[in-house]
This record gives sequence, structure tokens and C-alpha cells, in this order.
Amino acid sequence: MEPLACSAQEQQFEKIPTLIFPTPGDACAALAAEIRQLIESKAAKGETTVLGLATGSTPVPFYRELIRLHREEGLSFETVITFNLDEYHGLSRDHPESYYRFMHEQLFDHINLKPENIHVPDGTIHRDEVFEYCAGYEQAIEDAGGLDMQILGIGRTGHIGFNEPGSARDSRTRLITLDRLTRIDAAADFQGEQNVPRFAITMGVGTILAARRVALLAWGENKADIVAQAVEGEQTDAVSASFLQGHSASRFIINKAAASALKRVRLPWLTGSVTWTPDLTRRAVTWLAFKTGKPFLKLVDEEYSEHGMADLLTEHGSAYDLNIKIFNDIQHTITGWPGGKPDADDSNRPERSEPSPKRAVIFSPEPQDDVLAMGGTMERLVKQGHRVLVAYQTSGDLRVSDAETQKFSTALFEISDQSPHDWKDQLGYAQNILSQLEEKGPFGEPSPELRQLKGLIRRGDARNACEACSIRADQIEFLDLPFYKKGRYRQFTLSDEDVDSVVAVLDKMKPHQIFATGHLADPSSVQGVAFEAVRRALIKLQDTDWMKDCYVWLYRGQQRELAPHEIDMAVPMSPGQLATKLNAIQKFQSHSNSELVDGSRNRDIAVLYDKLGLAEYEAIEAFERYLPESM
Ligand code: GLP
Repeated sequence: MEPLACSAQEQQFEKIPTLIFPTPGDACAALAAEIRQLIESKAAKGETTVLGLATGSTPVPFYRELIRLHREEGLSFETVITFNLDEYHGLSRDHPESYYRFMHEQLFDHINLKPENIHVPDGTIHRDEVFEYCAGYEQAIEDAGGLDMQILGIGRTGHIGFNEPGSARDSRTRLITLDRLTRIDAAADFQGEQNVPRFAITMGVGTILAARRVALLAWGENKADIVAQAVEGEQTDAVSASFLQGHSASRFIINKAAASALKRVRLPWLTGSVTWTPDLTRRAVTWLAFKTGKPFLKLVDEEYSEHGMADLLTEHGSAYDLNIKIFNDIQHTITGWPGGKPDADDSNRPERSEPSPKRAVIFSPEPQDDVLAMGGTMERLVKQGHRVLVAYQTSGDLRVSDAETQKFSTALFEISDQSPHDWKDQLGYAQNILSQLEEKGPFGEPSPELRQLKGLIRRGDARNACEACSIRADQIEFLDLPFYKKGRYRQFTLSDEDVDSVVAVLDKMKPHQIFATGHLADPSSVQGVAFEAVRRALIKLQDTDWMKDCYVWLYRGQQRELAPHEIDMAVPMSPGQLATKLNAIQKFQSHSNSELVDGSRNRDIAVLYDKLGLAEYEAIEAFERYLPESM
């Protein structure tokens, strides 16, 4: 599979060659084929191949492809020597989150790499010996002949390996303090930020730059901004990946979602001639308004010409006409009636007025995704008389803290112990859970029983949050999709069973509206897999009568909000409605990681609408329409 075609002119702002593939699978197949060629051509000459490897979710599909090449196509790793980029400091090698264990589970145990050829920094080295140990790691790379190819992911701080902001271009393997954002991102793996190690051993930027070839992989919208900064920004130690600009054989290999902030994708009229579709026109005019700091209706002809958009004016007559058109377009995205306004002219509304009331299914990958993104809209749908069903795709048990589980089991233990009735079974259950928690410790693998209880605790939170949004318990369904129930982070595999369960809930409700999310998430994340289940279900159902008449609305996950030009439906909120939503979010007390939830995201969209010259609201929840042709 080839990357998407692109001219040199379109890439003029990119300081590192960037290959955009339709999917991570396509990208990984191409990279694995290159590595295979490298290994086999060197082996034919009697030479070894030295690979630098990375951890994280990103390289997982790449490792799966290497395993497939080994198993199905006979690729041998006998001549391969590997060096891993980094390791948490303070974790033993058998810790579930150690990179040593990760690499064995994800790759090493499945190929014929010689154990003596595997190198992962040792996180248990005493601080006093770290300096010497790191120098030894560098020496080992050199003794092996240097890295032929380094594979990288990228953290949201722009780090490669664990080279956090401030890492110098010539830095070498060393102990480093982890950035707060990095630790927040790792919090789910460690059941809470407080458990994430504070230090790590990492190859330096200089070590990475000394590799003969470098390939940085990135998937998903959450990586889009940092990828654009690294590829198009200045070389700076604030974004260590930007130093790859100085390497003549480095490449970024990314999917479309991770490419979405690059200029050629975001502002294509600046990188070449474009066909002005309605979407692109809306994007360009909105961009111009923000760029000039003016509301739509004050943009003038000269501003269009000065910003490479003169041909747009030729098409539309004048700035005056175009401004009004786009102003109206965006104005028409605003509605206080997310299920459609009954008996109203709906020709310029995002939703149809008929039928009324509607049936709506709201999919939420984990409990909380729904309320965080659309708690206000959920409340409105119910209050406006629609039949709403909230379908929690997974239990979200992996996010429930041990402390919360302990609290519940202790209460159960005490009440059973004090009960005048024969509550032996309950007492035994509580005792069992409490001892399991103790044996497991903060990092042990939770048993299915423990996961079940955590899932039930999470259900309680979800019901409370829904109630705060006026949704009754009988309007909630917990799908408990098997991919999550049987899996763990980075190891989720979607099966037909998952898709069938989504099909069943849709078929039962025959909704007029579906709300879903995860379409631009890392495909291996819970949200990414959960969306894939919805997408496949929609394809299966596309010929049903009700589906032909169904609108699918997408909301954004926790990290990146829709930009105004991407919004198809904007549901405004009053201060009171926002307060109700924030109150609902607070119900998720079992969450192991307390993220900041202050409504600022919803307020930010309202500020942007205001700046564009539209009405000034307290807050807005935003959706884009998912069209069948993009399925
Ligand atoms: C960690 C690793 C990096 C990795 C990054 C992103 O910080 N040290 O090597 O690139 O995580 O991880 P993910 O691929 O899960 O987004």
C-alpha cells in the first residue's frame, strides 16, 4: 500500500518527509516490508541488522505485522539485534507496565530473536550506577555497529523515547524526569497518576539521531497537533521530535487523523491550487476570520486576496456575498433542539422536525465519554420528549480505582458481619474481594471477579450521572462488549460478537438518531475499537428502512474539540445547563484519575462562535454529521 499521493508544493511547509497512509495497518505493512528487505539483504551478506524499538500503543500494529511476516512468510530475526529506547526507572522487569515485559508480550515472545540480542534499559539500576549503566548502553549500541533503523512513537509533549521538553539535540542515554502531561497520559495504565513512575532511562536525542534511518509513527487525532509542530515548526528542544528535521533519512509515517493539523490538510489553499468544495470554503473563510481577528461580516476583499483566496471571490462575487453565505451556514448549525424542532421549518436546521418525538441511541465507549461531551444535549433530548437510550459499550472497569473497590467491599463486609440474618455468602464474597485486592497490590492483574465488581461500581456512577442529566435507569443499557471485558489496554481485539451486540441494540431501537464517538481516536484505544464496532454495525444495517432515515452524529472524545468549521450541530447551553452538566460529571467518583473538568471546553467553543460574530452563549456542545458514504 502506497502513501497518499502528494506534490512537492503541497509539502512545502514540511521539514521532514511525511507519509500519510489511509490506515495504521497500511502504514505498518509498508514499514514492515522495508524492514524485511533490510534484514534479508543484510543477512544475505552475512551481516546483522540493528533495530531501535519503541513502546506505547502506536507500534503495536507494526509489531503484529512483523509477527505475521515471521509466522506466515518465514521472516527470520536470527540476525537481528534490538535496542529499546527507554524504560521506566524503578520498575522491575516483570512489572505489568515495564517496557521489558511489554516488548516480550507484544513482539519478542512471538519471533525467533535470540535472547542475548535483546537490549532494554534496566529500570532497576540504582541511581548511583545509572550514569555508568547508560554509558554502557551507548557502548553496546556502538559495539553492535550502530542502529540501522530506529522506530519511534511520539508523546503529546513531542518527546521521542522519553526525551521530554528541554532535552538537548546531542543528549545521550540518561535518567530523565517525566513531564506531568506524560504522566497523565500514562495514568490509565498505572491506575492513577500517583502510581506512574517519576523517572525513566531513555536513549538521548543524539543517540536517536545517530541511527542510519529513523521512522516515527503516529495515529489518531490526539497526535495531530504535536505532529504538525514537529514537522512544520522550528527545531527546538521544546519538541524533541523536531530535531528529526536535522536527520537526512528520517520520516514520519502517519494516518489521516494524525495528519489533520498539517498545513497541506488544514490549509490546502496555501500549499497549492484547490477545488473549492463547500466544506473547504467554510474552513477557509473561518480560518481567515480568526487570522485577521474579525467576525465574518467584517471581512473585506483585500483580506481574501492577501491570503491566497482571491479565486474564491471570483466564484462567489465579492467578500460581502461570501461572508453572508458562511455566516448563515454557521448560524444554521446552532440549535437548542438537538432532536429537531417539532412543527418548525427545518430547511435550515441541523436536524429534521419530523418524526417527533424521535428515538435516539447514544453510544458511549466508556461511561463518562457521553456526559463529558454531550451531557447538556442528553438532558435536552429527554426534556424535549425524545425516547433516549444510552448504550455504554464497555464497563470502564479498568478506570475504577482499587480504593473505591475496597470502600465498597469493606462496607459489604461490615454490614454482612453485623447482620442478624445469615449473610455468610455476602461476608465470604467481601472477604474474598478484600484479600484479592491485597494480593494483587497496586499493579497486579485484576481477576475477572474483581473486574466485574469494578464494572458494577462504575455502573452506579453512570446511573447517577445520567440521572443528573434527567435520564432514568431504564433508559440505560450496559453492553459490556467482549473486546473490553476480555482485554486490557493495548490488547483489545474486536470480534463479530462485539459488532453483533451493537447491531442488536440498534435493531431493537430502530433509532432516528445515533450519537457516537472514537472515529478519530487511536484505533487501538478503547474509543477507537468501540467506534469500529459501531461503524461495522452501521454497514451491516445500512439497507434497513430505519437506517436510511437515521442521522448519525459524532461527538469528540476527551482531547480535541471540533473547530467551528467542522461543526454541523452546535447545541448552546445556558449557565444553568452547564452547571447541571458539571454536576453530572462529578458523579464519576470511582475514576482512578481526576482529570480537570471545568466546562472550559464548552465555553471555548462559545467564545469562538462569538468571535466569528454569532450570538454570545455561555457554552456550546458540538457535533459533526457522519455521512453513510464515509462509512
Ligand atoms: C511513551 C514512550 C514513547 C511513546 C509514547 C507515546 O512516552 N516512552 O516512546 O512514543 O509513550 O505512546 P503511545 O504510542 O501509547 O501514544
